[in-house]
Amino acid sequence: MKPGVASIFSPTLAARFDVLVEKYPVKRSALIPMLLYAQDEAGYLSEAVIAEIARRLSLTELEVRNVASYYSMLRFKPAGRYNIQVCTNICCMLKGAYDVLDRFREELHIDPNGTTPDGLFSLEEVECIGACCWGPAIQVNYDFHDEIKPDHVPGIVGGYRGKAQAEGKK
Ligand code: FES
Repeated sequence: MKPGVASIFSPTLAARFDVLVEKYPVKRSALIPMLLYAQDEAGYLSEAVIAEIARRLSLTELEVRNVASYYSMLRFKPAGRYNIQVCTNICCMLKGAYDVLDRFREELHIDPNGTTPDGLFSLEEVECIGACCWGPAIQVNYDFHDEIKPDHVPGIVGGYRGKAQAEGKK
């Protein structure tokens, strides 16, 4: 970015973006990695995040938004620390994805697009996440879980709860 223009990102991430943009012959090729890194740091793609990325890549905000909206792992509003995405597209649906989704609703006491009051979990119903042969499939942040049955749900939730507690104690 131009010297003197303030970044909303941490100095480390801003420096990383400066390098990334120079790495590709066509600047916009850096868009997806930048969106992922930005989301990891900011939690979601806010207006300010989209505006800065657009500026850095000489794109319009609409162009950034159009690309970002195609990817289910990118989000435009805050999510829980662990964002649980349950695929209910055709292959997963035929193998019981809605039973899995319902079990997550019961376990977390939230509906899709909701976040638990402690901010630990959010739940989303999403389109295909590319694991159709192993459905029902879910994604928790960057972790894939496949062939999920409703009975697996308490263990998955408990695993992430334990992980959060362990990380909190470090
Ligand atoms: S249909 Fe669920 S992963 Fe493709």
